Amino acid sequence: MSLPPPREVAVEIAGVNHHFGKGEARKQVLFDNSLVIRRGEIVIMTGPSGSGKTTLLTLIGTLRGIQEGSIRINGQELAGLAPAAQVQMRRNIGFIFQAHNLLNALTARQNVRMAIELTDAPRARYDQIANEMLGAVGLSDRASYKPRNLSGGQRQRVAIARALVNKPRLILADEPTAALDKDSGANVVRLLRELANNHGTTVMIVTHDARIINVADRIVNMVDGHIVSDVRIKETMIICAILKKCSVFKEMSPSDLTDIAQKMAEERFTAGENIIRAGDVGDKFYVIASGETDIIAETATGTRAVAKLGEGDFFGEVALLKDQPRNATVSARGDVTVYSLSKENFLAAVRSHKSFEDQMSAMLFTRG
Ligand SMILES: Nc1ncnc2c1ncn2[C@@H]1O[C@H](COP(=O)(O)OP(=O)(O)OP(=O)(O)O)[C@@H](O)[C@H]1O
Ligand SMILES: [Mg+2]
Repeated sequence: MSLPPPREVAVEIAGVNHHFGKGEARKQVLFDNSLVIRRGEIVIMTGPSGSGKTTLLTLIGTLRGIQEGSIRINGQELAGLAPAAQVQMRRNIGFIFQAHNLLNALTARQNVRMAIELTDAPRARYDQIANEMLGAVGLSDRASYKPRNLSGGQRQRVAIARALVNKPRLILADEPTAALDKDSGANVVRLLRELANNHGTTVMIVTHDARIINVADRIVNMVDGHIVSDVRIKETMIICAILKKCSVFKEMSPSDLTDIAQKMAEERFTAGENIIRAGDVGDKFYVIASGETDIIAETATGTRAVAKLGEGDFFGEVALLKDQPRNATVSARGDVTVYSLSKENFLAAVRSHKSFEDQMSAMLFTRG
């Protein structure tokens, strides 16, 4: 079991700071934020009011100029982008924002049509496309209504239809389900999931709505202008499943396992590659997710493979626990995927879990 190869990077945020106000009133609201989002990912951003979520979203959407740091969308740097290029950029982004900017003089259908007019869809199909999209958000019978005759939730759904109709590569949504009842909210979330799965659309949603968290691939938590956690949900679940197969982690509670899984990184190796090398300083602990490895040790007659490890086996702990160089080389037999934990995180886990510590001591005794 392992994850599919990582997809291309859609949004790359690096070292982003942001200030509002001037002089005495100048106040920093974003602090050194970095985040990589891949194509087709749905990322949910949560955090207390005033923590900087909307500010970050508007920076990504080129609705606000970048002051410090870098944001790239599909490889294109936004910092210092000329206004004309910004407009071009925004055409590939679907915005679902709290103030939905529907044009009051136009009907729901006409509001959605406006977005279609920016594309090269044939004019004769505009109304049909708009009607289908309004149908998808459950507003077929409201297509001819103007915004003032729609409820808050219905207006929100028109704005969503307008944001999604062109299947943009990136969707930025700020509390998209806040004004919606349970069914309409679930419907919107389903549409976003379909776009992500079928068209590789990348979706960033700011929300406090616990009901929609289950669509997310990742949850990013923001506090006081800092991204404080970034949980890759599927990956964490896969790593937990592998850790559970591993004797030393068996006794741990799901929440402790999750803590450890979140700190592990996936690494891949091909046949013959050394994952660790005898004599090197030990810096990581490894769990094998798939494939087989040889343990190669110095013997009286030279180096030779002394044991084989496979899925669910682990290695690398001795050097970390004893603070000694690696006592053997571990090399990949074929394609191997491992999850690694840094020495620091490994030792912290050993110290904080009694059963883990006991098992590790027993292990040291036998593997010496
Ligand atoms: N245009 C502005 N001028 C000055 N300060 C601003 C401006 N916009 C936002 N701020 C401040 O920046 C901080 C972050 O605001 P932001 O709107 O990004 O928060 P948020 O996380 O989206 O909050 P909420 O969950 O309430 O929407 C807040 O302290 C806010 O008061
Ligand atoms: Mg906000």
